[in-house]
Amino acid sequence: VNLLVRSSGGNLSSPIMYGLMHEDINNSGDGGIYAELIRNRAFQGSDKFPVSLEAWSSVNGATLKLHKLAKPLSAALPTSVNVAGAKGKIGLANSGYWGIDVKIQNYTGSFYVKGAYEGFFTASLQSVLTKEVFGSVEIASKSVQDDWVQHSFTLVPSKAAPSSNNTFAITFDTAGLKGEDRSLDFNLITLFPPTYNSRPNGLRVDLVQAFAALKPKFLRFPGGNMLEGNTISTFWKWNETIGPLKDRPGMAGVWDYHLTTGLGLIEYMEWCDDLQLEPILGVWSGLALDGAYYPQSKVDEAVQFALDELEFLTGAVSTKWGAVRASLGYPKPWTIKYVEIGNEDWLAGRPTAYDTYKKYRFPMFLKAFGQKYPDIQVIASPSVFDDMVIPAPAAGDYHPYLTPDQMVASFSKFDRLSKQNLTLIGEAASTHPNGGKGWDGNLMSNPWWGGSVGEAIFLIGAERNADRVIGATYAPGLRNLNRWQWGMTIVQHAADPALTTLSTSWYLLGNHPLAKTLPVTASSGGIGPLYYVAGTGEKGTGVFKAAVYNATQPVPVSVRFEGIETKGLTATLTVLTGPENPYGTNDPFTHANVVKETKSTLTAGEGGVFDFSLSRLSVAVLETEKK
Ligand code: AHR
Repeated sequence: VNLLVRSSGGNLSSPIMYGLMHEDINNSGDGGIYAELIRNRAFQGSDKFPVSLEAWSSVNGATLKLHKLAKPLSAALPTSVNVAGAKGKIGLANSGYWGIDVKIQNYTGSFYVKGAYEGFFTASLQSVLTKEVFGSVEIASKSVQDDWVQHSFTLVPSKAAPSSNNTFAITFDTAGLKGEDRSLDFNLITLFPPTYNSRPNGLRVDLVQAFAALKPKFLRFPGGNMLEGNTISTFWKWNETIGPLKDRPGMAGVWDYHLTTGLGLIEYMEWCDDLQLEPILGVWSGLALDGAYYPQSKVDEAVQFALDELEFLTGAVSTKWGAVRASLGYPKPWTIKYVEIGNEDWLAGRPTAYDTYKKYRFPMFLKAFGQKYPDIQVIASPSVFDDMVIPAPAAGDYHPYLTPDQMVASFSKFDRLSKQNLTLIGEAASTHPNGGKGWDGNLMSNPWWGGSVGEAIFLIGAERNADRVIGATYAPGLRNLNRWQWGMTIVQHAADPALTTLSTSWYLLGNHPLAKTLPVTASSGGIGPLYYVAGTGEKGTGVFKAAVYNATQPVPVSVRFEGIETKGLTATLTVLTGPENPYGTNDPFTHANVVKETKSTLTAGEGGVFDFSLSRLSVAVLETEKK
């Protein structure tokens, strides 16, 4: 294939072409990027997920019982655990999110207790198998009979544990109990390792770093289905995810577990701040996953709820919600440039609910945001590919969950978008094998190399049109290897950071952002089996991105960049290849990484031509030295 990258023409690229999407699925928030180590820390629950002692066990024969006391810790956290026992040091232990990583580092924690007790509490980290204690700390009791008292501590293990099969325990000496009932009540027991940027209530360092390696430019949150909620009254209520943890009731998650919402609106914004991500904020549109929706007469309520959320984030301290933000310690307003109205409103309750979105729900939001926040880019949750006419300048959101063949067949999909059809690719992944049953079958249980190449070709197609594509992101972004609903993910993790594994090819494309795309003329060969895009990198370099699909032989490629057709010019060629079997997948447990990356320096020959060849199922980026 002989290609000439022209020096003019083409279009500007999106400054936020690659990003992240987050909702709590696959224990990606609780038990994932939210660094809290204690599972079921406040015995939260709902009709859908009744309160339980999940992850808790007794120490030294203590009796653990859940109660709703007349005087709870807070209205948001009404259930606490009563710990009783006859003699000696008793308490309760937590197994964490399927283990706890123990290193010689500061663990900061706290718990609330109610009950008269004189003496000390012991907080400790120990092995499940050998009972070896890696670290403990004594905390003087301030506990009293009739009130809840918070006890805070720092625990520094003297030894790192050989595995993450550990528990965290709090014990106390029954000899110090002064109340008649000879027991203590506990609630909101938390423990954090060091967090990213040392944020209190912050994020897990290795997972943020894994995301940072993808060079993301935006974060779309909080969903995804999580935003919609299971029923019309259980959507993601932003105002219940802010403030002290004791005032956050959590919510019935949509992915088979209750959510603490410890990772709340402010924590999402801090995540954006820390990685310099543009927030793409999803606001609830009045649709639930069970298909229920707000009638027109109630949509104003949902609109106001969203406008309040915007005021909370961006309003001056003199505004009602800006003042609330300031009272929580955040006087400086954030900036929000993108707001998405709902999530996949074309799907739940179809066709009736979708009709209401087209007829009045979206128009009412659009009007209200246009009036109050005219500079915000409003995004509809369907795209023009979902049978919706989206009035410019509003954009749409397209979620291709496809087979690799379908991804490749979609290469030219965005060529057909007009300048009036601005589109976000707010979720995308190869989810089903070629020739399978599609959505009537199962999702693949792991991201696989052939799927990644399909995604890469789809993304290259999107990048060719990045003046009409806001950006693209994989979903779901994280998967806890112990409990997950969707196997597809870009980062897999468990309690042990050694198991954190990056999958697939997105990082390569995201690591070479284009400032501008440039037309490419083929003097021989063309699109398929080589798919490509070219342009100018953000630092003025020449960039050529390509992937090969459905080829039996390596594809020879010659590329010239018009205007820098200099013999001797050098460029770096990075090529990702996978295993012979396209279903090969990374395995964190064996540390098998099926994706092989090779980097080489190429020197342009006569006429500035770079010659190389790309094998079947490969993804590559050629980037010249600075012009
Ligand atoms: O990414 C998993 C789910 O797929 C999202 O929650 C939803 O938006 C989509 O259907």
